[in-house]
Amino acid sequence: MFIHLDEHYINPKLAEIYDLDSPWSKDRDFYLSLAGDVQKRILDLGCGTGLLCDAYAAKGHNVTGVDPAEAMLKIARQKKHGKEITWIQSKAQDFKSEYLFDLIIMTGHAFQVLLQDREVECVFRTMKEHLKPEGSIVFESRNPNIDWKSKWDYEITLDTPYGLVQESRRYMDFVDDKMTFRLEYKFADETLTSQSVLRFWTKEQIEMHLSKACLTVDTIYGDWSQSPFSPEHSEEMIFKIGAG
Ligand SMILES: C[S@@+](CC[C@H](N)C(=O)[O-])C[C@H]1O[C@@H](n2cnc3c(N)ncnc32)[C@H](O)[C@@H]1O
Repeated sequence: MFIHLDEHYINPKLAEIYDLDSPWSKDRDFYLSLAGDVQKRILDLGCGTGLLCDAYAAKGHNVTGVDPAEAMLKIARQKKHGKEITWIQSKAQDFKSEYLFDLIIMTGHAFQVLLQDREVECVFRTMKEHLKPEGSIVFESRNPNIDWKSKWDYEITLDTPYGLVQESRRYMDFVDDKMTFRLEYKFADETLTSQSVLRFWTKEQIEMHLSKACLTVDTIYGDWSQSPFSPEHSEEMIFKIGAG
């Protein structure tokens, strides 16, 4: 089946500099803390270059990282604990395993690459089918009530193995609840671009799809310090499902 993926996930050169652009961060501290110290079986859907998977594996957890982009997985396999992790090239919707998991996560706003209702339905079904009865599902999506347009653009310089790279992110348009934006990476010898669309799901839409999948929300946090979600002020909607 044809899978459309954004250029910055499938281009090997851009996958190689992903961790410089998106280094360890407080969202990852939050996700890492969810696992605790007792060994758990963890499923990371849309694992990208596997920074979190590697950190879980370093703590002795049994980790499966799933991503459709081979270029991202290639970087992930090279992580320090990469050989202890099961890597699967697959969309979250299509993932199947004989195992049930204690913790299932979808991080880095990977949830927002899901543009269609049926894609979210399939992802929640996948999560439900692979969750231990006492397990937890945690993922986040940006709160659509925030003015993302005005916050979106940035320019940074990355110090990469290819030399200095000027990266910019530019908002293009919002049609209904889908934002299009463009990334540009100026290398010394070439400029690479990537155009992406993200959907800004409402809390109610997500809750409706969770409920259809017989998944019950335990908590919604509004930030990585685990403050309660505020519809007007919180940038994040961090959903925690299940008791674990
Ligand atoms: C913004 S990155 C996040 C990666 C990682 N979770 C992180 O926090 O750094 C989004 C990832 O989602 C992956 N992706 C795209 N479509 C997907 C799908 N249908 N199922 C699972 N992952 C998908 C991309 O290949 C990419 O690696």
